[in-house]
Amino acid sequence: MNQSIKRIGVLTSGGDSPGMNAAIRSVVRTTMFHGLECTAIYRGYQGLIEGDFEDFTARSVNNIINKGGTILKSARCEQFREKEGRATAFQQAKNAGIDALVVIGGNGSLTGALKLNQEFGLPIIGIPGTIDNDILGTDYTIGFDTAINTVVEAIDKIRDTASSHNRLFFVEVMGRDVGLVALNSGVGAGAEEILIPEQNLGLERLLDSLKRSKASGKSSSIVVVAEGDKTGKNVFELKEYVETHLPIYDVRVSVLGHMQRGGSPTCFDRVLASRMGVKAVESLLEGKSNFMVGVESNKMILTPIEKAISGLSEIDEELIRVSDIMSI
Ligand code: F6P
Repeated sequence: MNQSIKRIGVLTSGGDSPGMNAAIRSVVRTTMFHGLECTAIYRGYQGLIEGDFEDFTARSVNNIINKGGTILKSARCEQFREKEGRATAFQQAKNAGIDALVVIGGNGSLTGALKLNQEFGLPIIGIPGTIDNDILGTDYTIGFDTAINTVVEAIDKIRDTASSHNRLFFVEVMGRDVGLVALNSGVGAGAEEILIPEQNLGLERLLDSLKRSKASGKSSSIVVVAEGDKTGKNVFELKEYVETHLPIYDVRVSVLGHMQRGGSPTCFDRVLASRMGVKAVESLLEGKSNFMVGVESNKMILTPIEKAISGLSEIDEELIRVSDIMSI
């Protein structure tokens, strides 16, 4: 056990995701379990820079495992992108007696954590929290499972009305760079087409597919579009294009937006977050730093943050094929 760590700080940063509270709870309670102190840092790196801290005990995190969002709040912090901002953050951590930090967030948050360590030596472990599931070094990020279930529930409802009116719906879901939310929720909700940033099918191919759908006897259709998809400029342009070129279709658009980031986490995300919190704190106590906790084949693993942020997770070709087969 690393005797020099007596107080651990915890913060959430970047886009929130359901299950972040379960991760905070786990970090706080594991810290207490090992007889250490815990400092909660509000508003991510912004709060670290401003010293927006509170001492937490095991009781501070009662009844939050089921809550969406993050009780610590989150922020995207411009100041922390500059070395000067990070120096202030480090000084604040030092003044508060924080010996190590657990950062819960996505790619950008982990990049910031790594810089803080490299420049000032504060030991850091990252926990991947984002609905996008786009981080290398883990099969799942916290919030992804809840988000895809939220999307599936929404599409099920859209399908009811689509089918009553024989309509085609373009449903836009989150995913700026990676289409995992679109692909998984699309397969889960039985979408006819799934448009993702990794694959530009082209507008012609979309029209062909919709023509085939009609010819095969389908009266309504759902096309799931990741926000980062390049097939059209956006879902509204896709609607216009299809209406112009295939007037047989009555088209509507539904942009699900930030509702995908909210809601009570699924059991999967709560368990994942609890496991990741324990692993993060215990890794710090084993003297490890600059790693991100992950899960691979249901085993907890550590990946150097440098590697975790070196790229984006890849789309599963097998799942694309399943989707193609299912939508004949
Ligand atoms: O990174 C998570 C994410 O939800 C993306 O899928 C989405 O593009 C982005 O955040 C939206 O960010 P903001 O909340 O800043 O609008």
